[in-house]
Amino acid sequence: MSVSHQRILIIGGSSGMGFATAKRLVETGAEVFITGRDEAKLETAVAALDRKAVGVAADFTDPSSLQALMGRIGRLDHLVLAAAGPAAWGPFAQLPVDAVRNALNTKLLGYWQSLQAALPILRKDGSVIFMTGAASRVAMVGTAGLAAVNGGITQMAQTLAKELAPLRVNVVSPGLVDTPAYDGLPAEAKSGMFAGAAKGLPVGRTGLPDDIAQAVEMLISNSFATGVLLDIDGGARMPL
Ligand SMILES: NC(=O)c1ccc[n+]([C@@H]2O[C@H](COP(=O)([O-])OP(=O)(O)OC[C@H]3O[C@@H](n4cnc5c(N)ncnc54)[C@H](OP(=O)(O)O)[C@@H]3O)[C@@H](O)[C@H]2O)c1
Repeated sequence: MSVSHQRILIIGGSSGMGFATAKRLVETGAEVFITGRDEAKLETAVAALDRKAVGVAADFTDPSSLQALMGRIGRLDHLVLAAAGPAAWGPFAQLPVDAVRNALNTKLLGYWQSLQAALPILRKDGSVIFMTGAASRVAMVGTAGLAAVNGGITQMAQTLAKELAPLRVNVVSPGLVDTPAYDGLPAEAKSGMFAGAAKGLPVGRTGLPDDIAQAVEMLISNSFATGVLLDIDGGARMPL
């Protein structure tokens, strides 16, 4: 199945891996809608896509915002959930439970209610892709919060692949990918973190947003793929 002329909504499409996915999909002729909360960021993204995608500001944690978004779009073939939430990092013993609650409320429940809101307009045999993260696939000290959020989404997706069939439900689990999510770090700390991670990976490098976009495109276009959990992590599960 080609993605050309498919109507695709990318929640979290104004930055990072969601944006790279939008770029790849518009280049293949898909009709793409992207969301984020920040209208200026959304406008910059739409301009960078040569205005071949439509930007609609929406907050995926807000049910009324999601209703308005789906009402505006009207009909969808595929939904990509690539938005970020607050990351609950840190040693288990010290990580405040409120930080974990906030992360679960935002990303896990945000993805949950985004798909619920989209279902009435989503083609019955279309697809949904959840973006999770390698912390739910590799035991890494200090990432229990990330593991809980992304592991919950992964398990929910497996169940939904049966419950919502013939809708196809798939998961992409990225490893460390260079996106604006890390722009808040001092440059030296960021480059040190990425260089250190690259050394420990069989592929010898960290990820680029398009590495993930390529996987999303494949899962959208392959009509035999459902219940898939695709690790695109440079081999993070088999560290050197
Ligand atoms: N980068 C990595 O190394 C990495 C690794 C593993 C997993 N992940 C996961 O992959 C996903 C994408 O990450 P990324 O690095 O591409 O992130 P990013 O560059 O920070 O982009 C996040 C996107 O989500 C949107 N967003 C955030 N909160 C939102 C809300 N409440 N409502 C609507 N949109 C919202 C942002 O727009 P606004 O801010 O304007 O709302 C932006 O478009 C995230 O779920 C992240 O946890 C990332």
